[in-house]
This record gives sequence, structure tokens and C-alpha cells, in this order.
Amino acid sequence: MNLPPQREPQIAIPATPRKEVPAIISHSADETMEIGAAWGREARAGWLIGLSGELGAGKTQLVKGLARGLGVTSGVYSPSFALVNEYQGGRLPLFHLDLYRLETPAQMLAAGLEEDLFHPAGVTVVEWIERWFIPNSELPGRQRGSAGAHRFLRWVRIGGISPTERRITYEDFGD
Ligand SMILES: Nc1ncnc2c1ncn2[C@@H]1O[C@H](COP(=O)(O)OP(=O)(O)O)[C@@H](O)[C@H]1O
Ligand SMILES: [Mg+2]
Repeated sequence: MNLPPQREPQIAIPATPRKEVPAIISHSADETMEIGAAWGREARAGWLIGLSGELGAGKTQLVKGLARGLGVTSGVYSPSFALVNEYQGGRLPLFHLDLYRLETPAQMLAAGLEEDLFHPAGVTVVEWIERWFIPNSELPGRQRGSAGAHRFLRWVRIGGISPTERRITYEDFGD
């Protein structure tokens, strides 16, 4: 059997964030959407936004806000089955991935997702981004601090406080 040469996913958890902000507390689904919308207004071409948080944390809710902030008018639905959704019609195209169903970086490479992760002319948002990251322990001696082809990564963590409250933190890497 001819196996392709072993390749590594492009994104490693960068060693040092450029910017770490205090936690934001969202009190409602609408507030979470508004936080996403602010990021959508701020986003520039080539941005990668990675979302980590349990099922129901509000990752897709943030993506809905991002789409709105970018001026996308079509509905945002979780791409759990399609793996990647593309929304056009906004200031920048938005590419929305959900890695929930993929468990290892090898599976993601096999699914061809590497290409879907980098859209220099658009904004890419990835639910379950940590499934793509290489654990630090597997990076001996390899240079960290890169977001692969991306020049900018916003890594967002969202956690539940109560049925309606969420704690949102993020770190920015790159420029
Ligand atoms: N503060 C909040 N922020 C985000 N979602 C909230 C909040 N409070 C309640 N919710 C509800 O939690 C659910 C989040 O779902 P979703 O965004 O699909 O999560 P995920 O994509 O992380 O699995 C929605 O039903 C939403 O209405
Ligand atoms: Mg989701």
C-alpha cells in the first residue's frame, strides 16, 4: 500500500500570545452574538478565529455574530456534517468549520481540511479548534509561535457559568 508521506498539521499552539484580554461575561445568547459581531466588524482578511468550548457553550452563537458583523445576511448553521460552510455577501467571505467529528490531526489531513483552514482573502472560524492543535508535548524542539499560513489567530475559549451566562476569553497571536 502506498501511504502518503507523513505530514503535520500547520497550526501549533503558539508559545506566546500577543494579547490576552480579561474575561468577558455574556449574560445572554444575544450578548454573545453581539461580541461576535464586534469581532466581525474588526476582522481583516486572513484572520483565523478558533473556538473552544463544550457542546452548547455558544460557539455557533459567536459565529452567527461574526457573520452579522461582517454583513453576511444568510443564516449560519453548524457545519457538523458539511465540515465547512462558506458565507458570501459580507465585507469579507466567512468560512466556518466544525471539527467536532474529527478526532485526530491525521483524520483532518485525510479529510483535506488543511486547505479549508486558510483563506487569505476571507475570515476562517473553526469550532473545536483544539482538535487541530498539536499538543505542546508533541512539539519537542520544534518552533512554536506560528499559526501556520495564518498571520493572525484569535483563540477563543467559551465556558458556561449558568444556563444563560458564559465566560469568554481570548488570546491573539500574530499580527
Ligand atoms: N450567554 C449565552 N451565550 C451563548 N449561548 C447561550 C447563552 N445563554 C444561552 N445560550 C444558548 O446556548 C446555546 C448555544 O448553542 P451553540 O451556539 O450551538 O453552542 P455550540 O456551538 O458551542 O455547541 C444556544 O441554544 C443559546 O441560545
Ligand atoms: Mg456549534
